[in-house]
Amino acid sequence: MELKNFLIEQWLNPMDSKAKYNLGSSCVKAMTMDELFKVTEQDEEAFLKDLSTMSLHYHHGDSTGSPRVKKAVCGLYPKAAIKPEHVMMVHGGTGANDIVIMGLLEKGDNIVVVKPTYQQQYDIPKAINIETRELVLREEEEYILNMDDLLKMVDKNTRLIALSNPNNPTGATLYEKEQKELVAVAQSVDAYILCDEIYRGMDEDYMPSILDFGYEKSIAISSLSKMFSMAGTRIGWIVTKEEYAYRNFENRRSYNTICCGIIDEILASIAIENYEKVWARARALLIPNKKIVYDWINAHPHLTVHGDAKGTTCLVRYDYDIDSTDLAVDAMETDKILFCHGACFEMPGYIRLGYGGFGDQEKLHEALKALGKYLEKYDKKS
Ligand SMILES: Cc1ncc(COP(=O)(O)O)c(C=O)c1O
Repeated sequence: MELKNFLIEQWLNPMDSKAKYNLGSSCVKAMTMDELFKVTEQDEEAFLKDLSTMSLHYHHGDSTGSPRVKKAVCGLYPKAAIKPEHVMMVHGGTGANDIVIMGLLEKGDNIVVVKPTYQQQYDIPKAINIETRELVLREEEEYILNMDDLLKMVDKNTRLIALSNPNNPTGATLYEKEQKELVAVAQSVDAYILCDEIYRGMDEDYMPSILDFGYEKSIAISSLSKMFSMAGTRIGWIVTKEEYAYRNFENRRSYNTICCGIIDEILASIAIENYEKVWARARALLIPNKKIVYDWINAHPHLTVHGDAKGTTCLVRYDYDIDSTDLAVDAMETDKILFCHGACFEMPGYIRLGYGGFGDQEKLHEALKALGKYLEKYDKKS
């Protein structure tokens, strides 16, 4: 099996601790344990006391997740009548994407992947020799999925349509109207939809999930890494009402997970049961930070951003004559400024800026100022 290098992880992970200005991450500033209990108004002492007497064995009974955490996940989909038996706890969003793709695709199938997106969604199917059809979102359409393009790309062998919504890296978001259209296209060829909803929650108003539209073959995945600000717990989940898919995922999961960390699932339960409070904390950081970044880009003649990002990142086009990987490497080497280069999304000529990691707006201003100063040498040339 020839699995391509996972570019974003290989670029960001080693640089994370070396960066002075970190515009690379797509996470929201992580909570501490104390903060989790404060934000959710739960009793930390009682939790710590319970921990000391709990069994450290595998889950008893249901290995797909504790009844408490699965019930909490149901609460994230109030319009979809999700039951605990539709929920499966897995190892992060990465575990979820991997299990869904590996669990569903078979020889003779094709997958349609909406790009740019997280690399797993196109390079895992390619590695297992599945025909991978790539639908590239258009900047001039603000990266909103074009349903005519999608309709042309699917056929009777399309097993899966995969996307991230809100999109990573652009933050473009499909709401009810577009999600219904997406479901109709999938339904027309009886395909599953894998919707990675890890960035869902930035709007104060309800943000629809792909599960909301009564299509059984819809599969939503998510995790604690982004809007929940708890990436280190490595807790993610898959939700689907379709029994065949669920059984396949469960089997696949037995091969690589068995069950999630039992302590992590308790922390997950606390966060997810109180998701409105945790998301409100994330929003309070994201909304002003996004404005700072957009204002900065809009004031810069060589940079453009399209659409209104509803995630933690935005995709920025530059008009300098330099490869985006070279640009990112040079910015780190000269000034320790970290951002994501377009190659991570097969989008050369672009960079991704992440703004969720800044708890202090002054630090974000400083980072952007440093990036602006660094770019001056290219401004002069173009
Ligand atoms: C769209 C998307 N899916 C999945 C992941 C992986 O998330 P996790 O940390 O939950 O494995 C990421 C991480 O950046 C992501 O952007």
